[in-house]
Amino acid sequence: MRQPCKSLKEALVFGRNLHHCAEYAATKPVRLYGLIVLCWKEGSKGIMASSQSLFLLLGVALCAVVLIQLALWAAQSLSMLAHNRRQFDLSRKLMLQQIDSIIEKRVVLSDSVAQDVVDSVHKQKNSVSEDGSWSGYRSFTVARVAKETDSVTSLYLVPEDGKPIADFRPGQHLTLRLRVPGRAKPVIRCYSLSSGSTSDSANGIGDPCYRISVKALVTQSSSTDTAPASVYHGLASTFINQSICAGDRIEVKAPAGQFWLDEDSPVPVVLLAGGIGITPMISMLERIQATGAQRSAVLFYGVTNSREHAFENHLRSIAAVMQNVHVITCYSRPLPSDVPNEQFQAHGFVSIDLLKQVLPNNHYQFYMCGPPPFMESLYQGLVDWQVPESRINYEAFGPASIGTKNTEEASAVASGNAQVDPVSFVRSGKTVLWTAEENSLLELAEANGIFPESGCRAGSCGSCETGLVSGEVTYAPGHKPDCGPSKCLLCIASPNGPVELEL
Ligand SMILES: Cc1cc2nc3c(=O)[nH]c(=O)nc-3n(C[C@H](O)[C@H](O)[C@H](O)COP(=O)(O)OP(=O)(O)OC[C@H]3O[C@@H](n4cnc5c(N)ncnc54)[C@H](O)[C@@H]3O)c2cc1C
Ligand code: FES
Repeated sequence: MRQPCKSLKEALVFGRNLHHCAEYAATKPVRLYGLIVLCWKEGSKGIMASSQSLFLLLGVALCAVVLIQLALWAAQSLSMLAHNRRQFDLSRKLMLQQIDSIIEKRVVLSDSVAQDVVDSVHKQKNSVSEDGSWSGYRSFTVARVAKETDSVTSLYLVPEDGKPIADFRPGQHLTLRLRVPGRAKPVIRCYSLSSGSTSDSANGIGDPCYRISVKALVTQSSSTDTAPASVYHGLASTFINQSICAGDRIEVKAPAGQFWLDEDSPVPVVLLAGGIGITPMISMLERIQATGAQRSAVLFYGVTNSREHAFENHLRSIAAVMQNVHVITCYSRPLPSDVPNEQFQAHGFVSIDLLKQVLPNNHYQFYMCGPPPFMESLYQGLVDWQVPESRINYEAFGPASIGTKNTEEASAVASGNAQVDPVSFVRSGKTVLWTAEENSLLELAEANGIFPESGCRAGSCGSCETGLVSGEVTYAPGHKPDCGPSKCLLCIASPNGPVELEL
């Protein structure tokens, strides 16, 4: 039988075991009562002794609770602030987009105040700096239309506001926004500047102007009953070649582009032009002529025959006055009336063999522009001729371009593209999978019923620029757009892992 507890400690140790406690209480109720009284007395003494530290503890606990509440409140406020900021940014962006789309679509607003707001935003966006540069689109008037050949038309463009126009680097292009009848949306296309400077008094314009030269995309119908008729394929090129007249208005973005003649370099240049790819080369040659540079320049120009030979007399006159400029024209299918050694120097295509025959060595800076087969064969030929890639500059007039400028870069892009990554179009509420079959995010969007703004489809006009909400994109070889990491050019981008696009 256990003895009754003699001290509080003993009672507590004993009391911890409930089994013993119950057993003790059942047999010795009086002693249990004594134990409870003892516990109460000892406990009261302990409480009195430690009351001070208890209050201290209570104070500390209270402070801790208050501090935790404060911290929670601060965190909540911060997160609300961040949320509000995001909402504000998004609303601002959406509002600007709405204004842009109103400007784009020329929506007639019933509210004249709203129209004033739109006009003032339009004006602010298009304000012209002292040096003639501007951002966004600016209104130009067609001062003159000139036929270079049956299928190439030049437009001379002067600013409607009469203010100065920005200078440009020879080889750069303009982006045009055209209102083509029957098209709900404006048509955006890029055209290289086809003159070396903005002063074109020789052409009777007087005022500073830009010149572009546009080739119509024509094929001959092959009907057996009637004489072959010309069939025009291109939207913008047909409109420019057939409908635009002097006095018409066109919206134009400032000169831009990465393909330009390095005027500071003394290295001699070789210009390789195929068909309408002659336009940036005219600009480069004219600039060399205008600055009186003694830099040696050889132009190889490939066209079908005299019917397609744009700027024939102009090029001949440049070569006649500039000892350092040589022009070699190749006709692939000369007409019986075409005069060898006068109108053309070689029969056939511009080829690497021809370059090797004419040039003493490969120590040149090469610039090329032409149709895809022309570019692909010459690019490969130059690489095989040990021309460093850093000395080969090129511009493609459409989506098809040289396979790669750098093999490693191309294979990295190719392997990135092979992954099946989810692509989310946030505003449209669609998530689809990227497959290697798509050439670009623009094609992926269009294949899924989303039609973003687009123009050149070659990374040149900037019209497909879209917000990149999350993730990363990879660009086609040779392209490094300067739109920053939070935006991307859909027409030349593929996803590098899962991406979310603002669209
Ligand atoms: C940086 C840059 C500079 C450029 N500079 C010049 C320049 O100086 N001069 C110039 O002329 N061009 C230039 N271009 C090309 C120009 O921007 C346009 O792409 C070109 O004028 C064709 O546009 P489009 O609207 O007429 O053709 P689209 O209507 O866009 O047609 C595009 C393609 O589809 C084909 N196509 C369309 N409809 C049909 C059909 N029914 N049947 C068969 N094929 C069809 C066309 O043949 C064409 O190949 C440049 C492009 C870039 C990116
Ligand atoms: S469509 Fe012109 S940059 Fe993409």
